[in-house]
Parts: sequence; C-alpha cells; structure tokens
Amino acid sequence: ADPDFIASSERQGFSSRLGFVLAAAGSAVGLGNIWGFPTQVAQNGGAAFILMYLVMVAILAYPMLVAELTIGRMSKKNPMDALMSLSDKPHWKLIGKISGVTGILVVSLILSFYGIVSGWLMAFMGEPVARLAGMDGFADWLVGFSVSRNLITMAVFMVLTVLIVRSGVTDGVERWSKRLMPSLFILLMALAGYIATLPGAEEGLRMYFVPDLSKIFDPSLMVSAMGQAFFSLSLGTCAIMAYGSYLSQEENISSIAGMVAGLDTGVAILAGILIIPAMTIAQANGVEIYAADGSLLSSDALVFSVLPSLFHSMGDLGEYVAFAFFTLLTIAALTSSISMLEAPVNTACEKLNQPRGRMALLVGASIALISTIIILNFGALFGFVITLTTVYAQPMLALVFGLLLMWVASRNKVLQELKSGNPDMEQGLFWKIWPWYVKFVCPVLMLAVFLG
Ligand code: PFF
Repeated sequence: ADPDFIASSERQGFSSRLGFVLAAAGSAVGLGNIWGFPTQVAQNGGAAFILMYLVMVAILAYPMLVAELTIGRMSKKNPMDALMSLSDKPHWKLIGKISGVTGILVVSLILSFYGIVSGWLMAFMGEPVARLAGMDGFADWLVGFSVSRNLITMAVFMVLTVLIVRSGVTDGVERWSKRLMPSLFILLMALAGYIATLPGAEEGLRMYFVPDLSKIFDPSLMVSAMGQAFFSLSLGTCAIMAYGSYLSQEENISSIAGMVAGLDTGVAILAGILIIPAMTIAQANGVEIYAADGSLLSSDALVFSVLPSLFHSMGDLGEYVAFAFFTLLTIAALTSSISMLEAPVNTACEKLNQPRGRMALLVGASIALISTIIILNFGALFGFVITLTTVYAQPMLALVFGLLLMWVASRNKVLQELKSGNPDMEQGLFWKIWPWYVKFVCPVLMLAVFLG
C-alpha cells in the first residue's frame, strides 16, 4: 500500500479546500490585522506603510508561506518531525530538531501573551452588555486593569481555545473556522461601512490612503513592515506548517498560499478603513490621540481607550457598536489562537503517542501558566516576551525554515511536493522563480532589512 495514504488516513485532516483556506486565513487574520496593522499605519507615515507592507508580503512573506506549507505537507507529520525529515544526515536532523523545538516554544510564548490580550478583548466585549443590563459594578471591573480581571479573562479565552483544539482538525479547527471567519468578514464590513458614514470620517480616510512618500524607504518603517508581515501571516512559528501537514495532496500550494495571503492583506486594509477614521472622529470629538510629545498614543491606548471613548459618546447605540467591535476582535483572536495551540498539541500527541484531548488540556494549561507568570510580572515580562518572539524569533525562524527546505531537502522532493495538485507547474513562472528566490534572495533581503 502507498505509505502516504496510510499515514494520511490515520491523521485526521481538512475535509475541503474552503475549510483549509478559512482555517489558514483564520490563523493569519488576527489582532495583527485588525489592531496591529492600522495602528502601525497611523504611526508610520500613513499609506507609505501600506505600500511597504504590500511589497514585504509579496517579496518575502508569500514565498515563505509557500515554504512552510510545503514543509508541512511533504512530511504529513508534526512540525518537529517535519523539520527533522528534511534530510537523512544526522547533523541536519539535529538542526531540524532544534529549530522545531524553538518554533514550538516560540508559538507557545506568542499564545501566552496573545491569550492575555484576547482576554481583555473579551472583557471589553462583555462591558457594553453589562452596562445595558445595568450591572455597572461588573462593567467597571471588566474594563479596569486588575490582576483578577487579567487572570480570569485570560483563563476563559484559553478554555475556549482548548475546547476547539481538543475536538480535532475537522471537528474543531475546521468547523469553527468555517463558522467564525464569515462572521468576521460580515462584522468588519458592517462596522467599516457604518464608521465611514459618520461626520469626520473623510479626514481619516485621506490620512489612510494618501502616502507620505518621504517616509517609504525609512529603514525603521521597512523593519516594521517586515515584522508586521511575518506576524500577520503567522510565519516562523510552526503554526502554518502544522496546518500544511493536514493539507490534501490534491491542492495546489502556491495558489492556496496566494488565497491566504490575499485574504489576510484584504482584511488588514479593510480594518484600517474602520480604525483610522474612527480615530480621527474620536479626535474631532475631543478625545486625545496624541501623547504629550506629539507622537501617536500607544496602540493599546487606541484600542482600549480612544475607541471605547468614541463608542461611549454615541449613547446606547454606541454600546451595540462597542459590542460588535470587540466581538470582531475576539473572533479574529480565537481563530489565530487555535492555530497556535494546534502546533504544540499535534507535536505532543505524535511524539508522546497520547490522545489529543489530554494533550490539548495539558499544553493549554501549561501555556496558561506562562500567561499567569506574565500577568503577575506584567511590567517586566509583557513587552519583553512580545519583542523577543515577534521581532526577533519569528523572522529568524522563518528564515531557517526556508533555508532548510531549499538548501538541505532534496530539490526533487520539493519539486514533487509542489507539483502535487499543480501538474503543469514546471511550465509556469512560479517554479522558474520561487526556488532560487527562497534560496538566495529571501535571506539576503532579510539580512539587508535587519542591518538597515
Ligand atoms: N497572524 C496572527 C495575527 O495577525 O494576529 C498572529 C499569529 C498567529 C502569530 C499564529 C503567530 C502564529 F503562529
């Protein structure tokens, strides 16, 4: 029998292309899009940042996304075994193992801070409901910054994530992505459409779409755009690799990656159409959006204070808008957090030969423990963990994954893998460019951006 068939029939996978694309786009679309991207635009020269971001997605993140999906599907194993199986040579196996373990640790650390922030978003989602129900004391607790609020809301969010992941890829990840992602698209369009009709919105739209071209080649803008692109496409973490290992052999990886990158970028741009005008409207209504030194307020101040002040100034209707807005953010966060948990859970199940339910609980609880440590040492750890994982680890690991695939794995195997689901590939432009591009150009580009 075909060993691939046996291996894939033992592992549950995605049942349809739509299911896969929505799940992978669900991983990609998250706080990075709806919150990170617009605030980065606002802080970095408006549309100049959008342009540089589009360039970074096209020239770096998309090729790396193809690489990570390919590594996953080539092995049909958890990320650690996938990276180890790229070569038969013991030293490359060791490097594969080290980068796999690092990737699993990094994605777990990302989930540990993501879970805290997502807990806040859920709290802000609950607040308008509590206000409308007349429970003002509870509403105040929800939006106050306290250890108890942070711990409890983080725990609730982590329980939701664990519940979805323990149900498996088809019945958990795929089913929930298919429910949540369409709701996210509808909510986002409805909210962006609503904000655009408010007086003062054009000012924000102008700032968003008219680039300050003098800033475009600013090195710090380029580093931010690169980091944002890697974070947004969930690269350098094993999350996409784990999803790729469940992708059917009939699918064309390069076009699937194109759909995922396209959806992710589309949602980020749409989110800016919602957030940036909301900021300028809030400013016109007297809410401060600049700090004393003239720089824009921090991004968490925008989400947790500027926008809520705007919503509150709109009366009862504002409570509904606030509820819709934070529901949107919570949904986006949840489809990302399940992809972060899937990678370590999948690895734990396959390496320790344990049932998924038990591993989901165990890994989820361990990550919640890390979140608890961060909450208890917030000032020292929160920013540190974010910078360590997203600014340094993600781009570096993505680079290592790409190098292992192109320099270490056999070129024939990579070709076979990409051809599966795309039989005419060798005639197309993609195959002529992509391999040497990931091999030579991506590392040089990334190094140049870092050194810059
Ligand atoms: N891509 C997600 C976002 O934009 O919010 C964040 C993310 C998900 C990062 C999954 C890393 C990851 F593995």
